[in-house]
Amino acid sequence: MQIRKAVIPAAGFGVRFLPATKAQAKEMLPIVDKPAIQYIIEEVVASGIKNILVVSGRNKRAIEDHFDRAPALEEHLRAKGKTELLRVVEELSDMAFVHFVRQKEQRGLGHAIACARHYVNGEPFAVLLGDDIVRGPVPALKQLTGLFGETGATVLGVQEVPAEDVSKYGILDGEEIRPGVFRVRGLVEKPSPSIAPSRLAIMGRYCITPAIFPILEETPPGAGGEIQLTDALARLLREEPVYGLVFEGRRYDIGDRLGYLRATVEFALGRTDVGPAFRNYLKELLPGLD
Ligand code: G1P
Repeated sequence: MQIRKAVIPAAGFGVRFLPATKAQAKEMLPIVDKPAIQYIIEEVVASGIKNILVVSGRNKRAIEDHFDRAPALEEHLRAKGKTELLRVVEELSDMAFVHFVRQKEQRGLGHAIACARHYVNGEPFAVLLGDDIVRGPVPALKQLTGLFGETGATVLGVQEVPAEDVSKYGILDGEEIRPGVFRVRGLVEKPSPSIAPSRLAIMGRYCITPAIFPILEETPPGAGGEIQLTDALARLLREEPVYGLVFEGRRYDIGDRLGYLRATVEFALGRTDVGPAFRNYLKELLPGLD
């Protein structure tokens, strides 16, 4: 069965980005000139999926407006003859079917995914976390859906992290059954380095079977007092096979200030419009840095 639906949790407070996120959604913070969530939705679309559910919360209305028509703005751009910008704005509202549901209380990632149950309606589905932006020749999600198409089983996108970082992630214990593909034996959310079973960290990309939903309903709060998706996945693998796929691509943790700055610099350098001038500016600036 093919994956036709993607779920993007976007209800968090964005505490790591205060004060910028006091009154606006962290998903709308721009990297160069595109809001972070647009990169995620473009990855979904580039992976062949058009149905998207954003699990949102209060202060998130700008996300809905971003993927809606903007008649006054479109009229203004048309009148001014700004046809290229008009195309950019119009394409946004046509790129996917973006739906919204509110997570009324913030009880963790597992709880946010449970809010998608009706939308998902018994199908396998993708999950993308907005703090993880991945750049590479093949969209990260497409790499996961490829393995899902082969196995029909839950697939977690992973990458290796340094030992001192394992406590930030869901960590996988597994057996490598072919290069880059692991059969998962266990999962632990944010372990201390001394008990982490490996350095393979879940990087915000998942293909999940609908068997996760009844498990989520019974999953008690775990790390940080939150209902953890990783804990529910650890239960799922007692019932069904679960795979970890080491996907290719450079991943940025844009929920972290330094990660956000890295993404901004590297994405800007990669742009054909501002890239060359920005490169020259950095070259001038850097010899002078101490
Ligand atoms: C979440 C997940 C964790 C995963 C991480 C990836 O944690 O719970 O398993 O490794 O995203 O970014 P969070 O970063 O929301 O604390």
